[in-house]
Amino acid sequence: MHSTQIRQTFTDFFTSRGHHSVPSSPLVPDDPTLLLANAGMNQFKPYFLGETTPPYPRATSIQKCARTSDIENVGRTNRHATFFEMMGNFSFGDYFKQDAIAFAWELLTHGYGLEKNKLWITVYEDDDEAEHLWRRIGVPASRIQRLGMEDNYWSMGVPGPCGPCSEVNYDRGPDFGKEGGPAVDGERYVEIWNLVFMQNLRGEGPAKKDYPVLGELADKSIDTGLGLDRLAAILQDAENMCTTDLLLPTLETVQELTGREMPDQGEEKVSFQVVAEHTRTIAYLIADGVLPAKDGRGYILRRLMRRAIRHARQLGITGPVLPQTTASVISNLGPVWPVLSAQAELIGQITTAEEESFTRTLAQGTRLLDAAISRTQSTGSAALPGETAFELADTYGFPLELTVEAAHEASLTVDEDRFAALLDQQRKRAQTGRRAKTAQALRQMDAYRELSGHLPPAEFLGYEHLQVEATVTGLIAHGTVTSTASEGEGEEIELVLDRSPFYAEAGGQAGDTGTFTTTDGATIRITDTRYGLGHAPNGFRVHTARVLEGELRTGTSGLAAVDAERRSGLMRAHSATHILHAVVMATLGEHARQQGSLVEDDRLRFDFAHFTALTPDQLTTIEAAVNRHVLHDPAVSAWYASRAEAEAAGAIALFGEKYSETVRVVDIGDFSRELCGGTHVAHGSQVGTFRLLSESSIGSNMRRIEALTGHSTLTHTTTERRLLNELATLLGTPPDSAPEALHARLTALAQAEGELARQRAQKVILKATAIAGGARQVPGGWIIAEQVTDVSPTDLRTMATEAVRKVHLGPVIAILGTEHDGKAQLAAAISPSLVDDGHAAAPILTRAARAVGGGGGGTGALASAGGRRPAHLTEALNLAAQDATTLLANS
Ligand code: SER
Repeated sequence: MHSTQIRQTFTDFFTSRGHHSVPSSPLVPDDPTLLLANAGMNQFKPYFLGETTPPYPRATSIQKCARTSDIENVGRTNRHATFFEMMGNFSFGDYFKQDAIAFAWELLTHGYGLEKNKLWITVYEDDDEAEHLWRRIGVPASRIQRLGMEDNYWSMGVPGPCGPCSEVNYDRGPDFGKEGGPAVDGERYVEIWNLVFMQNLRGEGPAKKDYPVLGELADKSIDTGLGLDRLAAILQDAENMCTTDLLLPTLETVQELTGREMPDQGEEKVSFQVVAEHTRTIAYLIADGVLPAKDGRGYILRRLMRRAIRHARQLGITGPVLPQTTASVISNLGPVWPVLSAQAELIGQITTAEEESFTRTLAQGTRLLDAAISRTQSTGSAALPGETAFELADTYGFPLELTVEAAHEASLTVDEDRFAALLDQQRKRAQTGRRAKTAQALRQMDAYRELSGHLPPAEFLGYEHLQVEATVTGLIAHGTVTSTASEGEGEEIELVLDRSPFYAEAGGQAGDTGTFTTTDGATIRITDTRYGLGHAPNGFRVHTARVLEGELRTGTSGLAAVDAERRSGLMRAHSATHILHAVVMATLGEHARQQGSLVEDDRLRFDFAHFTALTPDQLTTIEAAVNRHVLHDPAVSAWYASRAEAEAAGAIALFGEKYSETVRVVDIGDFSRELCGGTHVAHGSQVGTFRLLSESSIGSNMRRIEALTGHSTLTHTTTERRLLNELATLLGTPPDSAPEALHARLTALAQAEGELARQRAQKVILKATAIAGGARQVPGGWIIAEQVTDVSPTDLRTMATEAVRKVHLGPVIAILGTEHDGKAQLAAAISPSLVDDGHAAAPILTRAARAVGGGGGGTGALASAGGRRPAHLTEALNLAAQDATTLLANS
């Protein structure tokens, strides 16, 4: 059964049983406690927790998941992967254990035709009910096993919903491992489907077991996950994940690149599988907007890329790997996951750039390692320090195994204990930081949850109105819910209103600010607006505020008024961002999509994918095109549609944004159509003027444009005009001719400097000629030794060389000294004939340099020295002259 049919069978089975089919959410989750989507239930978490009313009681999805906790097992077992598609059915307070078990049994045995006697079941240690239900359906007691919390109790690994679970496992036969059921051998009895009976709330604690279970959820729910890869391996009789139709084409690409087949066993087999498996994860992560980075999810991506590249190198592939292997993932899976095809160009660019830079890193690491090995050998130690191995791994991404291997070749060991200790210290530091952040976020969340639990959703009126009458429905101070806040306390509070004209920060647009004036005379300044829980447009909106005057109480009414000036600036900048997006894509190509944006009051930042800096011409073209669109005064309008309708109508959706089933589409004229919940001007010309400020790189293949709109462009122009006027005044010309005038000044200055240099050189030569006149004869040649007044070290050397050239009577040695900048300077030059005879200038200055308290050096015919004791110059010159005399006498 091809994977396409496996997916279809699953979706058909559950939709025909009343489940709403929901698309996978992106791998970048919309949940601050989670780095990457790791289960089908992630996007439904608010439903399980009862924070949001589910729009349907039952759902089914095929979710993209990434998990790296088992990364070391990839390629070593048949069942571990860092990316997988999880097919799931969900009940939100609707059906529970009995139906979940019946559905799974029917689909596996009828839909997929698995043999009943190959299915083994595990249940949580005290879950008699689950065991009873499985036995009623026909599973014998001998194939049901009970396991503890680590295996049969499920949570996301962080605070949130949790519950006991029951797993369906498939016996792959004696070739795969030992007898005895899943409790004994997970490789032979491979887990395929996990049914989670969501009923509790877990707290902070270890990821998998021994965490506190805080209490019961309001509703009992179902969350299941059937692993597509594992089921495909069984149905296609493939030994492992890499040989199903999902990954085989990619594995074949790796085989082509190495020019050989994957062997049946051994380390090479592991490498083949790691490259193929990691490649798929890499392609999906980039497609969903993750970029390689030093930390967070970007680091997960980077680590996967580096592992894949390293294993490819071990297989002997020296050229680029990831651009080729990801291309095979795109052509194989793009038809099912269109985001892969849509981002094909970006995936190619990013994998190419990262592979190039990692290849350089590996080379650099190798050089450092070689140096560290020789240092260790020269100290007579037998072990490379753990610090070195750690620095190589941490700073250069150079893995410990490689360090150990290289050390071994040089008959050294590596202090791996020290390495482990350093790694552990670093992990602990990171963990403590993360915990503190999570704890703070959780406290705040608790307060929001407490409030949102009993409040109806607030109405957002800010598309049409900037001022509305509203009532305070909730107050939070110091992270806890309260009922009053007053002026004297002065601290920041959070305010919830029953209806609000304040736009909450979303889609890059900053939150609104303004005031709330109560009917009983209190004045409150609102400094920001955000979503505390949920999202646009119906999420739970909080206003950050300060009481300026009087007392604020829950239940009080008043006038909520948005700062209209600032909001106009935000609208101008937001509409300009859409226009800029359309223009950038039209100018640079479809790949140059928006990757992020920040919309502020008449100021915007726009990040997009592109591989080189824009030329001044491109920037001018872009700025002019945006202004042309603005001045054509296109109408700006917003309409609502289903996500599918909007995309069919060509609306651009953005990376990393979460969209609800019904989306808002913003059109500007006939050239821009984007999914957007932001606030916009009504007509293009209201943007005013658009000015580019800068264009720069913000990482590999990512560029950033900063720009101004409306009033800011005027202020900016005023500043520029002032600068130009100042410049013109200094140059004594009208502003128009300032560039010419400046150019003329710079040319004149360069000429004057050239003339000055020529004159100085002439003076040096004249002086050298004069000095040469004072040469005295000694046995074997001529000597010049003279102190000159204040000459730069460079000129002193020229002077010495020139003096030697001026004397034509035989071998000559010139030694000159001067005091310059409070220091003694010496130069010595000797005739070329002396150099030919094997002499050098440097030794002549050895004793002299010591005399002035310094040192020197030089090669062949010229040497120089400097020291901090100019008072000893005469003595130094005498010593040098003595040494020069000795040299000539012996030549
Ligand atoms: N959330 C559960 C899991 O990931 C079942 O889908 O295993």
